[in-house]
Amino acid sequence: MEGYEMAIRILGTGSYLPDRVVTNDELAEMMDTSDEWIRTRTGIGSRHVTEGETTSDMAVRAAEAALKNAGIDAGEIDLIIVGTFTGEQLMPNMASKVQAAIGANRAVGFDLSAACSGFLFSLNTAYCFMKAGIYQKALVIGAETLSKTVDWDDRSTCVLFGDGAGAAVVGLDEGTESLFIMGSDGSKGEVLSLDARPLKTPFSMNPKEVNPWMTMNGQEVFKFAVRKVPECIEELMKKAELSVEDVDWFILHQANVRIIESVSKRLGVDSSRFPVNLDHCGNTSAASIPILLDELNRSGRMKRGDRIVLSGFGGGLSWGATYLVW
Ligand code: UT7
Repeated sequence: MEGYEMAIRILGTGSYLPDRVVTNDELAEMMDTSDEWIRTRTGIGSRHVTEGETTSDMAVRAAEAALKNAGIDAGEIDLIIVGTFTGEQLMPNMASKVQAAIGANRAVGFDLSAACSGFLFSLNTAYCFMKAGIYQKALVIGAETLSKTVDWDDRSTCVLFGDGAGAAVVGLDEGTESLFIMGSDGSKGEVLSLDARPLKTPFSMNPKEVNPWMTMNGQEVFKFAVRKVPECIEELMKKAELSVEDVDWFILHQANVRIIESVSKRLGVDSSRFPVNLDHCGNTSAASIPILLDELNRSGRMKRGDRIVLSGFGGGLSWGATYLVW
């Protein structure tokens, strides 16, 4: 847990969603599910699914939009962090691909793997570099191609996820205070998991079968989220010496509308302060918070000076919350 006396300032946002929209009704033609089940259990109505664009292609489009929105040239960016676990390559990393594509010639780039907490952890990491005076301007991106990680024959996972990317150009501002909390519980990691490449070498003793698909114990993740998210937001509020009443927007990772409603109830805050875009995006993991930020920014719903709490949670298990002034 750390707190600082300088503020994260989001200078601009951008997002990108693939053109192809897959509705619940379309899924119901492919498998034993229904629009009614998906909507009532999750709040999801449709999601965007890539027809070929890669994670870095989407990250680049979101980054370009964020730079334009901030009115900043790519050459001014010092640091690029991409929160993702679904890059199209393990090497080079997605951040280096973005750096080359946008011409951010003096930026250093790396990826950060923290599943659905990926954007939040990346934002906090960028903040620490800036607070330490090492870098001045960062491009923080969440980008995911979840459609390639789910088993499209498993209705309990494939209906939940979508593809997309969101980005924020971030600088520092004196005078207001930003704070964050982050946590991990690796002992529960298996409730949400995705295997990497298998160890198959002439020297490996017991080559293990690798499952190519994401596996999830939905109820365990649900219980974890509805307990941990309010807990860490309350801890953050205490640290910031604020009450939840002082916060204009709670921007949560978009996993399930029932999780969001439960958090709003537990905190005693009206659900109108918990914006939702699950209905048309599904769960886009690390991309969900920056996509939602971009929607709120561009629609003018969020105004300069608004006080915001971001909260991410998911695989790891991992969780976190960040307080900032828009
Ligand atoms: O980003 C973080 C990662 N993930 C999450 O945050 C997910 C957190 N968990 C959840 O959102 C919910 O647990 C789910 C939406 C995944 C599942 O909702 P649930 O209310 O926990 O349902 P369930 O798993 O208890 O399943 C209830 C029933 C089962 O049938 P039976 O055994 O009662 O006959 C499932 O087989 O619903 C069935 N079911 C479906 N039915 C229609 C599961 N998936 C589907 C489906 N369509 N797509």
